[in-house]
Amino acid sequence: MQFQPQNRSRVPAHLNAVNRLRIVKIEEVAGESPTVKTFKFQDKLCEKAVPGQFVMVWIPRIDEIPTSLSTITPGGLTSITIAQVGEATKALHQRKRDDLLGIRGPYGKGFTLSSGKIMIAGGGTGVVPLMPLTEKLAKLAIKLTFLLGAKTKDELLFLDRINQTLSKCNAEIVATTEDGSYGLKGIVTDQAEQKLAIDKFDMIYACGPEQMMYKMFFLAERHRLPFQASLERIMRCAIGLCGSCVIGNLRVCRDGPVLTSEQLRMVKEDFGRFKRDFQGRKIPV
Ligand SMILES: Cc1cc2nc3c(=O)[nH]c(=O)nc-3n(C[C@H](O)[C@H](O)[C@H](O)COP(=O)(O)OP(=O)(O)OC[C@H]3O[C@@H](n4cnc5c(N)ncnc54)[C@H](O)[C@@H]3O)c2cc1C
Ligand code: FES
Repeated sequence: MQFQPQNRSRVPAHLNAVNRLRIVKIEEVAGESPTVKTFKFQDKLCEKAVPGQFVMVWIPRIDEIPTSLSTITPGGLTSITIAQVGEATKALHQRKRDDLLGIRGPYGKGFTLSSGKIMIAGGGTGVVPLMPLTEKLAKLAIKLTFLLGAKTKDELLFLDRINQTLSKCNAEIVATTEDGSYGLKGIVTDQAEQKLAIDKFDMIYACGPEQMMYKMFFLAERHRLPFQASLERIMRCAIGLCGSCVIGNLRVCRDGPVLTSEQLRMVKEDFGRFKRDFQGRKIPV
């Protein structure tokens, strides 16, 4: 049989491109809080990303880590927003304008857009993937209720950007801090509970600490509302091969990171309760 080079790979061309490591130049670094920075760069493949999708960022000689996109634009201007928590994120925080980063992706399933009356609940760095989502929903929703939470005022992310985005539509923003240093004292889920008791919604989106997303899921189920949440698990391959991100019979990198109510019901033994550590052992969330 004659060898035909064009038949060698069954992987679609666009997936080959997504999986290839690209070197991007940092165009701008902005501090969002004492521990969080945003890095802007140009990338043609990220311009087509769906809000909620993530990229793998390679920090040479240290590690490769997953991170959501905080900006997605038609021209390819992209950003990631990272909290400094360990070795890789510390090294990333030392990067400056004109330094280089390696990226591959965007990966996974992002948020499905909805219309009508929408509730968005974001806590801590969970607000990151909700930013490009909110920018899209601002053009579709009849009313948007954005519940933004953090431990302290310093850690409240993107308050100005949310205010600016939602100033053009019918929207309400409720900020909460656990220490009461800004907005209402308390947690996002208490505000959600109060809003759901008096108003009707068509969709709830959430991203933040898993216990918070679990409570939001519980509230959505109680009010029989559709729900989408973006989950975090250890990610290595990001393409469904290594198994490090499993939750129940789903792989968060490939089936998520955004999971729907139907999917969360399938993994209710693990969601809000267990995750896997770097060795694959089940540990409490
Ligand atoms: C889909 C997804 C999107 C994310 N988006 C953001 C974001 O927008 N902003 C942000 O600040 N953080 C985000 N994270 C978390 C980020 O990946 C971790 O904070 C980062 O990997 C920590 O690396 P480190 O070496 O600094 O810390 P380490 O000391 O190595 O780890 C600290 C903690 O970070 C988590 N972590 C470490 N390595 C990984 C890994 N390979 N995959 C997943 N989690 C890991 C673990 O919970 C670990 O206990 C996201 C994670 C996932 C899975
Ligand atoms: S990160 Fe390898 S299967 Fe999800």
